Amino acid sequence: MITFTLNGEIRQFEGCEDTTLLYYLREIEGITSVKDGCTNQGTCGACLVELDGKAVLSCRTKMKKVNQSSVVTIEGFDPVLRETLGRAFVEKGAVQCGFCTPGFLSRTHILLKTHPNPTRDEIVKALSLNLCRCTGYVKIVDAIQRAAKAIHEKQSIELNQDPAIGSSFPKYDAYQRAIGAADFVADMRFENMVYGALKFSDYPRAEIIKIDCSVAEKLPGVIRVFKAEDIPGERITGHLIDDWPLMLKSGETTRYIGDVIAGVVAETEKIARVGASLISVEYKEQEPLTDLSIAETSPIKVHKKGNLLSETAFKRGEEIKKVLQSSDFVVNATYKTQRIEHGFLETEAAVALPWGEDGIRIYVQSQGIHEDRRLITRILNLPEDKVDVTLVPCGGAFGGKEDLTVQGHAALFAYHLKRPVMVHLSRDESLKMHPKRHPMILKYSLGCDKKGKLTGLKADIIGDTGAYASLGPAVLNRSAGHAAGAYYVPNVEVSARAIYTNNLPCGAMRGFGVNQVTFAMESAVDELCDMGGFDRWQFRYDNALQEGLRTTTGHILKGGVGLRETLLAVKDEFSKARFAGLAMGIKNIGFGNGLIDESEVKIIIRSENHIVLHHSWTEMGQGVDTVAIQILCRETGIDNPGIIDVQHTTTANIAGGTTTASRGTFLLGNSIIEAARQLKEDLKSAPLAKLVGKTYQAKWTCDWTTAPGEGDDVISHVAYGFATQLVILNEEGQIEKVVAAHDAGKIINPALLEGQIEGGVVMGLGYALTENLVQKNGLLKTTKFGKLGIPKIKQVPEIIVKIIEAKDPHGPYGAKGVGEIGLVPTAPAVANAFFAFDGQRRYELPIKKEEK
Ligand code: FES
Ligand code: FES
Repeated sequence: MITFTLNGEIRQFEGCEDTTLLYYLREIEGITSVKDGCTNQGTCGACLVELDGKAVLSCRTKMKKVNQSSVVTIEGFDPVLRETLGRAFVEKGAVQCGFCTPGFLSRTHILLKTHPNPTRDEIVKALSLNLCRCTGYVKIVDAIQRAAKAIHEKQSIELNQDPAIGSSFPKYDAYQRAIGAADFVADMRFENMVYGALKFSDYPRAEIIKIDCSVAEKLPGVIRVFKAEDIPGERITGHLIDDWPLMLKSGETTRYIGDVIAGVVAETEKIARVGASLISVEYKEQEPLTDLSIAETSPIKVHKKGNLLSETAFKRGEEIKKVLQSSDFVVNATYKTQRIEHGFLETEAAVALPWGEDGIRIYVQSQGIHEDRRLITRILNLPEDKVDVTLVPCGGAFGGKEDLTVQGHAALFAYHLKRPVMVHLSRDESLKMHPKRHPMILKYSLGCDKKGKLTGLKADIIGDTGAYASLGPAVLNRSAGHAAGAYYVPNVEVSARAIYTNNLPCGAMRGFGVNQVTFAMESAVDELCDMGGFDRWQFRYDNALQEGLRTTTGHILKGGVGLRETLLAVKDEFSKARFAGLAMGIKNIGFGNGLIDESEVKIIIRSENHIVLHHSWTEMGQGVDTVAIQILCRETGIDNPGIIDVQHTTTANIAGGTTTASRGTFLLGNSIIEAARQLKEDLKSAPLAKLVGKTYQAKWTCDWTTAPGEGDDVISHVAYGFATQLVILNEEGQIEKVVAAHDAGKIINPALLEGQIEGGVVMGLGYALTENLVQKNGLLKTTKFGKLGIPKIKQVPEIIVKIIEAKDPHGPYGAKGVGEIGLVPTAPAVANAFFAFDGQRRYELPIKKEEK
């Protein structure tokens, strides 16, 4: 018998003494403020609690260690102290997705007992166990110091109530997330709920001879084992191309180690996983195709039609060969970038349950509820009105939750069993299953004349798209369209191809193919400067995109181009620094390329104290719900933002697409402005109480972009964001400071904007220096979250954010979007800083240690 106190109350535990404290707290006590971010790997800190006054990772703490001890979770804090800590995090913008925040709050609670006025260094030391993928840690340090001050001065922190455009209005729902009171999907509990686990392929490429589920089926607690034959509708679907089976059949050949062969549903998650491990598969192993450099011409075909998934190719201007031959300086180089993991703290989870008559409702954390519904209706062969997909704001995504992963399996299991089913991936399953950032090989030839004006670019790019298409064609299309970066290059010839291999699929990740080409382009520009003796800042200024100039695709920019201003914003610090690297960035807003970008909203007046705002954009930490409230208040004059309740469900029957391409603020903002027009009019003659029951609905559409190669009047995207980043090294060659100057158009919420940039910069530093998801022969070299190189707080230098507001002609109040560009220029700015330090040019990411 283990006896201890939990939040001051005596508890006794008679179960297995090797049970983890995390399991006990979440599953036996129902305390879900304690999060599971890495499935007992002990590397994320989301499960951190207090044990006898010390910080422990509850996933690594066995119940036997808890005997005769005191355990404290957030629920056991003094209520005033809890409010102060939570509000300090909210006020300072330290809560983005909020999945990591309860762990940080617990750590802060312990720290402030011994260090009531902690220095930055003391905070950094204390937070060594905690990981945050969203914030870049800057605002977390600010929040802890703010909390310490408030406690010391016995102040109550009053949060900003002003939702005006340009105000750092606190993030919607952030306080609840900070104290762990808001559910993520895996925190949800339903009566009669059971759990699903998946059996993944053991080989990246092997013919499946036989699948034997008999032992798993007999395991006590197993309810049913599902195979491909149980899928009532289409087994093979996909986001852009239908090539991804929900489950493979006997006789088929696997394509990667995340292929699903069967699923087990059981009374508990643990039994379901044991059941999945008991499924025996007989394989005939085959040689996998894993080398991108030979994949285009390899005799091994990953899909019947061949390994070339897509090509985007175009030319503009004079014949490139002649242009480069007549240029005064030409850089010819090949750059390579690596596969990396998104590293969102909340792993994939979905809960599906019977809904209405013969329908299914699925709670998801994905980046597109409508896209999920489109695919699930096809899998289950159900009409749209029989499937509802409801978003539970997620614990980070960064592009990694655009494809269907567990949503389809949960829906299938619940459809057959007629009871709620949760499927929740462990951290190592998550690493195996979802698409990553594309590794690329980029051959660049870039020329300029003797005055330092760029003349031409030839870029030949291939990307390892892995086993399935995912977003591969769009990512490589974006690489092609941004190949010349933020420069005006009069003559270009570009080809970008997505190639299938038996590696993990690659798809969307923050920056979406633009990070890789920016590394190549900015490295080549730096090398040209070195060759021709040009000043690195002036060369960029002279060749930077401006209004009236054409982007890589030939799109003539018209309004809202603050790129040169971002360069000016870093000029002084660049010239003063001894070792510094520069890079510029451009990032599209919206799909563009001839596709429709649209957003629809529905505003329902439920009472004078309750307005429901329906939209379809995923809140994943970036703050899209907050921006929505600010815009609705601005348009209608509503001065009590607390009455607005934001919901995301397909039953609202409004159009929407995936939350991607930095387009949420832009599209949602415009659609709210449209929908609020009539409400504003009605409010002139009647108070809200008189409008109860009314609905205001509107859609905003951009349908004027052009497909690649479609005429001379190219409009590739509705808008672009611009940036310049400066990386400064100290005398030892370590990164001391990053200055990030960004033009994101009109600022809606400065704290949210800064948070996106700071978080982006830190992700960019990881991409430059430490992150790498290594595969060998199609297998993962590690499934340990802590071995992926995701930056921890002690690796973060000083980050200064400078904002330029060049208003976009189409954006709401001139706003653009900033979700991705924060890390677009970071890696080349680092590489260029290292060159300034030691004269060695880096052609490959991550930058190798011995090169530093
Ligand atoms: Fe314990 Fe990640 S769940 S450290
Ligand atoms: Fe820290 Fe999202 S806010 S992981």
